[in-house]
Amino acid sequence: MYKIPANTLFIGKNLVFVPDCHSTNTLALQLSQQPTATDGTVVITDHQTAGKGQRGNVWEAEPSMNLTFSLILKPKFLAVNKQFYLNIVICLALMDYLKEKTPDPIHIKWPNDILVHEKKISGVLIENQLHGNQIVNAIAGVGLNINQRIFEAPRATSLARLTGSTFNLDTELGAVLGFIESRYLQLRQDKYVMLMNSYLESLYRRHESHTFSHDGTSFEGIIQDLDESGKLRIQTEGGIRAFTVNEIAYV
Ligand code: BTN
Repeated sequence: MYKIPANTLFIGKNLVFVPDCHSTNTLALQLSQQPTATDGTVVITDHQTAGKGQRGNVWEAEPSMNLTFSLILKPKFLAVNKQFYLNIVICLALMDYLKEKTPDPIHIKWPNDILVHEKKISGVLIENQLHGNQIVNAIAGVGLNINQRIFEAPRATSLARLTGSTFNLDTELGAVLGFIESRYLQLRQDKYVMLMNSYLESLYRRHESHTFSHDGTSFEGIIQDLDESGKLRIQTEGGIRAFTVNEIAYV
C-alpha cells in the first residue's frame, strides 16, 4: 500500500493502488475517461503482468521490489507539437531524484531511458490522448528499479544494486512524485528552453561518434540535439538528419 504524498500540491493526491494489473498505463488510460480521475492521479501496482515498454517491448519487474506507476496528467496548456516536453519533464524528475540517491553519473538515453554506468535503471512510457491540438490526457508510465537485485537483462540495474541499501517504496514514491511535480510546474510556466537545455546536458553519447541503424542500414553519426518535436538530430556525412524513435536504433 502507498500513502498520499505530503510533499506535493496535486500529483498523487488521488492515488489508486491495485495489488496487480496488466499494465498501470492501460488501467490509467481507462480511469482517465472517468470524471474522478483528476489531473495528477497516480495509478500504482505491486505487480504488472503485462507491463508495457517502448517500441512494443515488455517491462519486466519483480513484484513488490520496484516502483511501477502511471500518472494521469491533463496538460491542456501544452500544444500537441510540444508533447515531447512531457518526456523531458519525467526524465529530468527521475534524474533529480536519482542524483540525490547516488553519486554515480546518470544519463538520459534518448528518448527516455535513464542509465547509470550504461545500465538502465528506469524507463518511461508516455501515451497521449489527443483531441485536435489539445492533449486531453497524458498517461506517463514510470518503471523505476529500486530493490530488485537480480535481473535477467544484462543491462539493467537498480538503486539497491548501486548503493547496497534497501529502500522503502512508499517513501521513494513520495520523493519521485515531488520531483515530477516541480518539473511539471516548470513546464506549466513555459520554461521550455531551460527544460530542453537540462535534458540535453544529460543526454547519453551527445557529441560522440556512434553507429546507428535506419531502414536496415547502419551509419555513423554524432548526436547534436533535439528538435522541438523531440526528434533526435544527428550529424551525418550527408548533413544533419532528424529521426523519430521508430525510425532509428543505436547499434
Ligand atoms: C521502456 O523503457 O521501454 C518504458 C518502460 C515503462 C514501464 C512503465 S512501468 C509502469 C507503466 N506501466 C506500463 O505498462 N509501462 C510503464
